[in-house]
This record gives sequence, structure tokens and C-alpha cells, in this order.
Amino acid sequence: MKSLMITKYGDINSSLEEQEIAKPALEENQILIKTYSSSFNPIDHMIVAGDYKALGKVSFPVGIGRDVSGIVEKVGKNVKKFKKGDKVYSRINESHVGTMAEYVVSNVKDTALMPSNLSFDESASIPLVGLTTYQALVDIAKLSKGEKILIHAGSGGIGTFAIQLAKHLGAHVTTTTSTKNISFVKDLGADKVIDYTSENYLDDGAVFDVVYDTLGGNYTLDSFKVLKDAGRVVSIKGTVDNITAQQLGLNKFVQMILAFQGRKVFKTASKMNAMYRFLLMSPNGDQLKKIAKMYESGAIKPIIDKTYNFAEAIQALEYLSKGHARGKVIVKDMQPFQLEIFIIYMKTYISI
Ligand SMILES: NC(=O)c1ccc[n+]([C@@H]2O[C@H](COP(=O)([O-])OP(=O)(O)OC[C@H]3O[C@@H](n4cnc5c(N)ncnc54)[C@H](OP(=O)(O)O)[C@@H]3O)[C@@H](O)[C@H]2O)c1
Repeated sequence: MKSLMITKYGDINSSLEEQEIAKPALEENQILIKTYSSSFNPIDHMIVAGDYKALGKVSFPVGIGRDVSGIVEKVGKNVKKFKKGDKVYSRINESHVGTMAEYVVSNVKDTALMPSNLSFDESASIPLVGLTTYQALVDIAKLSKGEKILIHAGSGGIGTFAIQLAKHLGAHVTTTTSTKNISFVKDLGADKVIDYTSENYLDDGAVFDVVYDTLGGNYTLDSFKVLKDAGRVVSIKGTVDNITAQQLGLNKFVQMILAFQGRKVFKTASKMNAMYRFLLMSPNGDQLKKIAKMYESGAIKPIIDKTYNFAEAIQALEYLSKGHARGKVIVKDMQPFQLEIFIIYMKTYISI
């Protein structure tokens, strides 16, 4: 099968190439998915750039891509939940990374049926950003009705989902973006928009119950300047906390270095009786099922910035890596043209 592979660390254009590789082997609690669409996330270009080198040696070539929507081609011998022909979506497990390919294997527990009202491209826009934000706002921050949340970068893949989820949970949403995206994020439901190119979000003072830190760097510590006492900061980009360091299986020495690097954040949180958590998202089919219901009810809508063909996947990743996507960047058409596939596509679009 054809698959986009990372051949080395470096710039996107010279480190990725389409290769013929074997179809992935199927285990008893897994399904083989015929890929229809996928989407890129910043982790994909960060891996190509070598940003995660320290986490372990990689033997190239390796696949790329974590989000998939497609059709079940084959099920493992213990699988009862899905059958051949089901339309599914998944943020696949790290050990099966490589959704920019004709086929991908996903654990049953990481997979759910696609939202019934969405196309393959729309469904592929959801898993990684949807799960990350669900885990950040629902599981960790326990954001509730009437609370005030600050969501940084409301116009990105994460932000566009986060604004809609926070509104669905009944929160008052403030978000940051640049001038060109102000009306875009307002249309998604943001109650207040701060233009980061001309305003300073710190001017609002300590008014937020929750800050969703999607930017890291100085933004992580500064979150506490706008947080009420005993508020919650959930970061997906900033200082790694002890819980995540242990989840990652980092050794005691690395844990000590992280604790030292994050000391100001942890100290400030403790002084304010606030919660600080770093989230490393995890695949979760049950949560994807709950998220699918939010799309089916119309509470959340898919936001796609650009869609590329498989042959243009490298351009898609280059576009995302500029850091100014407005929603998600999709890659489609992993399958060679077949009449059967064309009919399935047409049926999906006609049923919307
Ligand atoms: N820990 C985890 O498990 C996890 C999971 C998912 C994502 N992440 C991380 O979360 C971050 C966001 O992911 P994403 O998918 O949303 O990325 P993305 O789609 O590439 O984000 C692009 C958006 O960021 C906005 N932006 C850039 N700089 C900004 C600033 N200073 N203030 C406000 N907005 C700004 C841009 O808006 P303008 O064009 O208006 O500038 C653009 O719309 C990434 O760093 C990613 O690695 C972590």
C-alpha cells in the first residue's frame, strides 16, 4: 500500500516521501481501516523537525498522521463492536501512527463510529483536537455552566473546537486571535475576542475560572495573572507536570529537571490555591462516541481550513507548520480511484 513516510529529521519538503509499504498486520482487538481522510496536527511537523528526539531513537522510515476516518475493511478475531463496512474515525494509538496511508490499524478501544451527519473529511478533522480539548475542559478542568474561560488561539485546530465545546458546556468564552480572525471566532460563539496583535489579554485582570493554555512559553506562567484564586489552568503546550512526566515513564532525573524548569508555575499555582495540569492527550473511542453526538445534535460543527489530495500531503503539512491555520487541515483521497469508493463518497455527501 502507499504511505507517506518520514525518512529523516529535517525540513518538511526533504524529509517526507511516498513509499510502498506492507499493509499493517491486524491483531485480535483491532480493526483494519481503509483510509478515506486524515488530518495533520502540529505534532506531525514537530516530529519531522526533530522536536521529540529526546524521547527516544527512531528508526526511519516511519509513518505520519494520527487522525483517520474511513471504512472498516477487516476486524480482528475478538472484535464484536465493529463490522466490515462501518464508517469509523479514530485518533490512533502512537504505536500505529501513519494515517497518511491507504490502510491503518486501530485498536477497538480507540475507535468510534463517525458522526452520522458528517463526511469523511469532516470526521477526520475531529479526533485529536476533539479528544485533547474534551480531556482538558471536561475531565481535568471540569468546566461548568456560567464559568469564565480564556482560550488562547481560538482560530486554530484546537481553538475552534474548544470555543464550541466551552459554549456547549455553558461557559462564558474569551479567546485570543489576530485581527483577520475576529469575526470568525465570534461566529463560533466566543463572547469576547482579544486581538493579540493590538491588545494585551493581561489587561482584563484576574477574572477567569479556567485558562486553556494552548501556546506555552510565557503564556503558561502569565495564565495565573488572569486567573481567579483557586482557578484551574490546563496547558497542552507549557510546563510538563509530575503526573504527565510519570505517564510518559520519564526517569527520576528527567522528572527532577522538569520540576526545576516548572518551579515558578508550580509555586504560583500553590500560592494561589490554583490547579495547574499539563495534558498529554490520549486516544479514547468512548469519548469519540460522546463527541460524535455533539456533532449530530448540531452543538459543534466541523471547521476545515483547507483540504488537500494525498499527492499534496507535503504541502498540507507545510501550510499547517506556518502556525496560522483557521481550523483543520485535511488530507483526502488516500485510495486509488475505484467506482465503489466514488459511490460511497457520493452517498455520504448526498445524505448530509
Ligand atoms: N498536549 C497535547 O496532547 C496536545 C494536543 C494537541 C495539540 N497540542 C498543541 O496545542 C497547540 C495548538 O494546536 P492547534 O492544532 O490548535 O495548532 P494550529 O491549528 O496550528 O494553531 C494555529 C492557530 O494559532 C493561532 N495563533 C498563533 N499564535 C497565536 C498567538 N500568539 N495568540 C493567539 N493565537 C495565536 C493562529 O491564529 P492567527 O492566524 O490569528 O495568528 C492560528 O489560527 C500546538 O502547539 C500543539 O502542539 C498539544
